[in-house]
Amino acid sequence: MELQASISFIYFTFTAVFFLFSLSIYILRLNRVCDCDVCTAFLTRSWTSQFVNLSDWFTHLLSKSPTGTIHVHVLNNVITANPDNVEYMIKTNFENYPKGKAFSAILGDLLGRGIFNVDGKCWRFQRKMASLELGSLSIRSHALNVVVEEIENRLIPFFTNVIDKKEPVLDLQDVFRRFSFDTICKFSFGLDPGSLKPTLPVSELESAFDLSSKLLAERGVTPSPLIWKFKRLFTIGSEKKLKSSIRVVKKLADQVIKKRRELGTSSNNDLLSRFMGSISDDDYLRDIVISFLLAGRDTVASALTSFFLLLSQNPKVIEKIREESDRVMGPNRETLPGFGDLQQLHYLQAALHESMRLYPPVQFDSKFTKQDDVLPDGTFVRRGSRVTYHAYAMGRMERIWGPDSLKFKPERWMQNGEFKQESAYKYPVYQGGVRVCLGKEMSLVEMKSVALCLIRRFDVHVVNPTRALRFAPGLTATVSGGLPTVVRRRDLQE
Ligand code: HEM
Repeated sequence: MELQASISFIYFTFTAVFFLFSLSIYILRLNRVCDCDVCTAFLTRSWTSQFVNLSDWFTHLLSKSPTGTIHVHVLNNVITANPDNVEYMIKTNFENYPKGKAFSAILGDLLGRGIFNVDGKCWRFQRKMASLELGSLSIRSHALNVVVEEIENRLIPFFTNVIDKKEPVLDLQDVFRRFSFDTICKFSFGLDPGSLKPTLPVSELESAFDLSSKLLAERGVTPSPLIWKFKRLFTIGSEKKLKSSIRVVKKLADQVIKKRRELGTSSNNDLLSRFMGSISDDDYLRDIVISFLLAGRDTVASALTSFFLLLSQNPKVIEKIREESDRVMGPNRETLPGFGDLQQLHYLQAALHESMRLYPPVQFDSKFTKQDDVLPDGTFVRRGSRVTYHAYAMGRMERIWGPDSLKFKPERWMQNGEFKQESAYKYPVYQGGVRVCLGKEMSLVEMKSVALCLIRRFDVHVVNPTRALRFAPGLTATVSGGLPTVVRRRDLQE
């Protein structure tokens, strides 16, 4: 026992000394290289006196930079809003900009070897499997069936129930998160968590998932990884909470796999059943399950939340969406759109794209530089440094979208009455290039169906729609405090 105690003591002392030594070297380095205005403002948080969100401050800095690129030295991070740089990173010189070890270290505890967190062979395998599945016609109609079922059996009854109350107010963001959680679970795993039942509190999995996402995002903005690594080593502070929330997520993901196995996998359309046909390692399957939850839940909920906020600020756009849908589907408000209808709703497609331009669900995305390189705008990037393209800032740049860049204007996506796609490097909301999002089509089907169903049947008014949005830390954009909204049945005289 005594020997064990001495070894523990020596180990602890050594680690603590090592940590303090590394920290002091790090601080000395900072002092030497980082007295620039940006780093000082970042470290002292003085930017908060003028900007609500870090992304707003970065947008301001990027719009002032002649190249559309800045360097935050203390984070060893080059941040760009320059479409030429984006194309170079995610397509032309893709091999030099992998996710890298530093990214894997930040998210690895939750995502493990899931598709979001890997490069090389492991990524290629999952990408190939997932793209075969997500691209197939049968899975597309399966996706629409899942969405329609959830709208008819859960979303409409949920809203109808709220309308009948004295004060018909709900948190729209929370409703969308529950909706997209049910949808992605049914679609990806063939299992129904039923979280949009009006009586149910947020499930254990959802809250553990939210907390993990928040704490992992905080890891990404600590000036040195040593800080969170030290806390993790001794399981203290935020790392203690992170560890227990990740344990919950993993336990529940394991249950998903177990349940799927019990119910059988051979005759199923869901992604997990297909992956189970080729993978027998349960830890690997669990990582895949977690990545798909992350991919499909928060992104769609985030996009729908900001869409309804912008609609509340722009009632004319609601009228145009209603006019278009009446023309394509007829005036019967009860009808839900089929595939054919969705393809003809060009204005709705434009409005959703415009909304994600201003509020992209994934506000920025980082890669790590493998070898020293020079970006197309002349910025030198050192091997091992982080390079981030900032979709949120790009959506607001006058030099990309013109002088009315801050205006919500779906018309900018229309040409001769049809939706016109923009370059993914100017609009990297779904990333683009080699690792473009695999769920893009599915997410658009889901968002268009939900938006149309609500817009045609209800009047949805966000309370205080012009307040400045504050985003909570997390891997996807989430509005702090939710989105309180009043819902009424649409006036039948309209
Ligand atoms: C509005 C909704 C969505 C947006 C804005 C979005 C955006 C993105 C972005 C920016 C990435 C790149 C992330 C990175 O590499 O770090 C990505 C990747 C991915 N997305 Fe989505 N996504 C959405 C919905 C979905 C849905 C519903 C699914 C699944 C059914 C999905 C599946 C994936 C997958 C599998 C990847 C990884 C691709 C790869 O690394 O090769 N996404 N998405």
